[in-house]
Amino acid sequence: MAFEKNILCIGAGYVGGPTMAMIAYKCPQYRVTAVDINPERINQWNSDQLPIYEPGLDKVVQACRGKNLFFDTDLEQGIKEADIIFVSVNTPTKTFGAGSGMAADLQYWEKTARQIRDYAESPKIVVEKSTLPVKTSLAMERILTNDSDQIYFDVLSNPEFLAEGTAIHDLEEPDRVLIGSHETESGLEARETLVEIYANWVPREKIITTNLWSSELSKLAANAFLAQRISSINAISALCEKTEADVSEVARAIGMDSRVGVKFLRAGVGFGGSCFKKDILNLVYLCRSYGLNEVADYWEGVVRINDYQKDRFVLSMLNAMFNTLAGKKICLFGFAFKADTGDTRESPGIFIARELAEEKAELVITDPEALSNARIDLADLGEQVDYVEDPYEAAEGSHAVAILTEWGLYRDLDYERIYASMVKPAFLFDGRNVADHQRLFEMGFNVFPIGKAPLTHY
Ligand code: UDX
Ligand code: UDX
Repeated sequence: MAFEKNILCIGAGYVGGPTMAMIAYKCPQYRVTAVDINPERINQWNSDQLPIYEPGLDKVVQACRGKNLFFDTDLEQGIKEADIIFVSVNTPTKTFGAGSGMAADLQYWEKTARQIRDYAESPKIVVEKSTLPVKTSLAMERILTNDSDQIYFDVLSNPEFLAEGTAIHDLEEPDRVLIGSHETESGLEARETLVEIYANWVPREKIITTNLWSSELSKLAANAFLAQRISSINAISALCEKTEADVSEVARAIGMDSRVGVKFLRAGVGFGGSCFKKDILNLVYLCRSYGLNEVADYWEGVVRINDYQKDRFVLSMLNAMFNTLAGKKICLFGFAFKADTGDTRESPGIFIARELAEEKAELVITDPEALSNARIDLADLGEQVDYVEDPYEAAEGSHAVAILTEWGLYRDLDYERIYASMVKPAFLFDGRNVADHQRLFEMGFNVFPIGKAPLTHY
């Protein structure tokens, strides 16, 4: 059958893979291909073991792979055949040169723009999916149009708002889809083409169109706002611990104001994930480069509070455990940056494990999905860390358990059994406030939640 359109995505990662799978699933009339420079990743996309763990993704991929969804390494062919090219390569924080530690590293992204220019033989719509600094599409346009063949490219910005663990739901029923374009005749036409694609399953009123720069900035600002809520409640959690207020009660009272809303007010060990920190630092860098130092300082504070929260957690462990962790076995329940994902990028667990290792603690890490990533993240700690699938086995003989990821599993464990197998006095640090603290205390645990008074037997 002839397909109506050929859609290509460059970069088959956490964003590109699921997004293309959903487009293919909802639009059998389009041929969708995702390419990646990493052949191993492509092999995984073509196997039963997908490269990322995401609830519901298997079903969507299986329904259309080989029919109208393809994973490939042939970038050149892909570019030649495509009408629309999504670019979803990674844009990590720069680790060198000007803006090191703050600005976005655009090297992969720029290389991709050049490849599109070099291989394209017909006009294309190029869609920025990667999160980028404002005005990046201008650079992309300059690279694409700097060519004697004069092939015409329209550049659109279409940031992705999916969250890991709920990616399939977020793609299927997004709060909104955002598409930015130049407001020229050809820009508006390209924008309408992309609107038509999403309109196959997203109600029109949820598809917002803006100018290019608003779209690019909205993505950075949306992530900054979300992260800011977490830092706000975490900052309040520190005060709760000093005043006997309970952060869950405070969050509930604040969140019931419909102007504030209940979501994203869970205090914890701090936010992780590949986006929040990177995007805020990117925003901060952008503000500073425009001389907006007060604005930059304001947003930088969100990251500072996040670092403070992780520090505070380790210090409270040290404090509670008689100021020495040397030689003590500490078991970490969860290592993924949040529940329902195996992803550990920027996970608070990485920082906390390293700090505990500094204190010469012996670590045992358990997590239902993230152990293979944890092994890579902490490879340099060698023998000081054990990785154990089964939480009961992991906790055996430990002085303390610290819950770092809000996996539902950790709510429902048989804590009597865990308590019985631990060294006494047994400590439980609940970095996500998921366990039943009163019950744990009654079993004998010394319990240290976040933003609530500790329950101790001494
Ligand atoms: C990435 C960006 O980090 C994020 O800013 C953006 O919003 C969406 O895309 P993610 O999908 O989570 O996020 O990144 P990752 O899982 O690392 O995927 C990027 C993929 O691009 C990798 O599979 C990598 O192999 C591939 N890639 C990278 C290319 O195909 N070509 C390159 O030149 C560079
Ligand atoms: C985020 C945005 O939600 C998404 O829109 C964007 O496209 C990418 O970045 P993600 O990083 O996958 O998605 O996860 P998210 O659910 O936002 O959680 C981020 C971090 O915040 C996690 O570490 C999570 O545990 C933490 N968090 C979240 C809290 O500590 N408290 C909360 O109330 C909510």
